[in-house]
Amino acid sequence: MDTFCRVLDWLKPYLRKLKICIALLTVMTALRMIVPYITQAVVNDVLPNRNMALLLQLCALLVGMTAIRSVLMYQRGMLIEQISQSVVYDLRTNLYGHMQELSYAFYDTHHIGEIMSRMTGDIEGMRVLVVNGVVGLIENLLMFTLSLIGMSLMSWRLTLIMVCFCPAVALVAAKLHKSIRPAHMAVREQNAVLNTRTQENISGVRVVKAFAREDYEKQEFATENQKVLNFNLRVTRLWSTFYPLMDSIASMALPVLILAGAALMYRGQIDIGALVGATGFVWMLIAPMRQVANFVNMITNGLVSSEKLIYYQDLGSQVRSPEPPQRPQVREGRVDFDQVSFRYADHEVLSDINLHVEPGQIVAVMGATGTGKTTLVTLLGRYYDVSEGCVRVDGVDIRQQNLHELRDGIGVVMQETFLFSETIANNIRFGRPEASMEAVEAAARAAQAEEFILQTPQGYDTVVGERGMGLSGGQKQRVALARAILYNPSILVLDDATSAVDMETEAEIQKALAQVMKGRTTFIIAHRISSVRKADQIIVLQDGRIAERGSHKELINRDGPYAAIYRDQTRDFVVEKAGEGA
Ligand SMILES: Nc1ncnc2c1ncn2[C@@H]1O[C@H](COP(=O)(O)OP(=O)(O)OP(=O)(O)O)[C@@H](O)[C@H]1O
Ligand SMILES: [Mg+2]
Repeated sequence: MDTFCRVLDWLKPYLRKLKICIALLTVMTALRMIVPYITQAVVNDVLPNRNMALLLQLCALLVGMTAIRSVLMYQRGMLIEQISQSVVYDLRTNLYGHMQELSYAFYDTHHIGEIMSRMTGDIEGMRVLVVNGVVGLIENLLMFTLSLIGMSLMSWRLTLIMVCFCPAVALVAAKLHKSIRPAHMAVREQNAVLNTRTQENISGVRVVKAFAREDYEKQEFATENQKVLNFNLRVTRLWSTFYPLMDSIASMALPVLILAGAALMYRGQIDIGALVGATGFVWMLIAPMRQVANFVNMITNGLVSSEKLIYYQDLGSQVRSPEPPQRPQVREGRVDFDQVSFRYADHEVLSDINLHVEPGQIVAVMGATGTGKTTLVTLLGRYYDVSEGCVRVDGVDIRQQNLHELRDGIGVVMQETFLFSETIANNIRFGRPEASMEAVEAAARAAQAEEFILQTPQGYDTVVGERGMGLSGGQKQRVALARAILYNPSILVLDDATSAVDMETEAEIQKALAQVMKGRTTFIIAHRISSVRKADQIIVLQDGRIAERGSHKELINRDGPYAAIYRDQTRDFVVEKAGEGA
């Protein structure tokens, strides 16, 4: 019922149109009610008296009524379609906007395929619910009620007999709803699974081919697809069992009415015209009753889909801007981590992190893979909230700041480069869509990207493929670097940003970056000593804790983990050198 009320909420903006639609339906249905009366008049007045004039009048009435109904039917169809398509439009826009607000934690736990399935299949299910469910239900309820009223004006006794069928129909409808609901839910869930599988395998098609796993993937897909088929057949089976049952109950109305009607007629309680007319009404009563199974099926399906959409709509982002936010006095790039600990679910990744960075400083973060370097910088833009302690940017706890303003001041080159299927220029100006072409070119130059960009067929206007296909790993990284540089943030985060470029290019980038980094705080995550040696402070993470910190010189002399990395990276060179000397 809650779900149904929420669906009605979505209809609220179109209440006026819906009211017009209901008015049209009422007029259309009321017009149909005239037919049995015409039949009654033909039997009682035209036939016994051979009244041709009345017959012609009645025929003209029928034709006129049909014409009016056709016009109204057109209007009704247009209105319903307008309402349902508008609801779909609103819902899709609203959900997409909502998805943009959801935090990393949501995307950690929900598959893209599943989200796509909600945004397409479930929205369509909801649309069918609005068009055929809500509107159809109103239409049939109207027909049923008006027929009952019309019939009771002819014969209240016969109407009473008809009403006795209602509990039986309601009982079967309730039973159908109860048994078909889990079946529809299984279909929706399995569709999401199939979509996830499809999306993942197409995204990873290169890996599939590289490992010659096409046959396995085909097999797996067929298995999941088979499940969709089975679940759909289960729905069909249930529905096919209930439909004839409902149909039989409804159809029983006619013989019962004829028997009762004949009995009443012989006793002189109704005339023959009323009996024939009432039979006309029976068809109008039977039709909605027969449709009940259909409606229950459709509405249950729509409600299951709507439930999924409502679940998404109600999911609040775990990370939200406070009201009212606190604003730092200056945005200069001061960063403080105070006693910060962080865990993903119950997996502790960072503990007791204390780090103070002055505006304009360069901080390098080193450490073995999986020690929490990326996690550390992710906390800076509040993509996750710390589990304990506090992160301050420019002196204010980031949980007190407006999220957009906070992130506006942080430019990130992520470890996994993601480019949009857009022109290179638009990829670079992604964070600053208003940036001029000169600014784009300057950023590309600073990232040592201009040379290769100009070599592409259309230069800056070359459209790169999905996720940057068509560019090499190092080229993609440099476009991403240019994107972060153009963003002009007070804090720049480079997460392994030059891991895919050769040493020589990296040296060039560093030279250019020295200029870019002036006046802004920079976090560099890197594995190569050459990338970090110029940093003001270098921290080395071990098991999620800061194992040591200091400048390159200090750390080299300390003989700790940093010195060990240094020795490792220079050993080959020294050994080879020594070998040459021997
Ligand atoms: N979204 C996540 N959910 C759960 N655990 C995660 C998530 N992201 C990372 N982890 C875990 O947190 C730990 C730290 O990951 P992180 O990505 O910060 O490492 P890293 O130091 O950047 O490693 P690398 O040098 O390989 O990039 C890892 O053990 C990883 O398995
Ligand atoms: Mg990382």
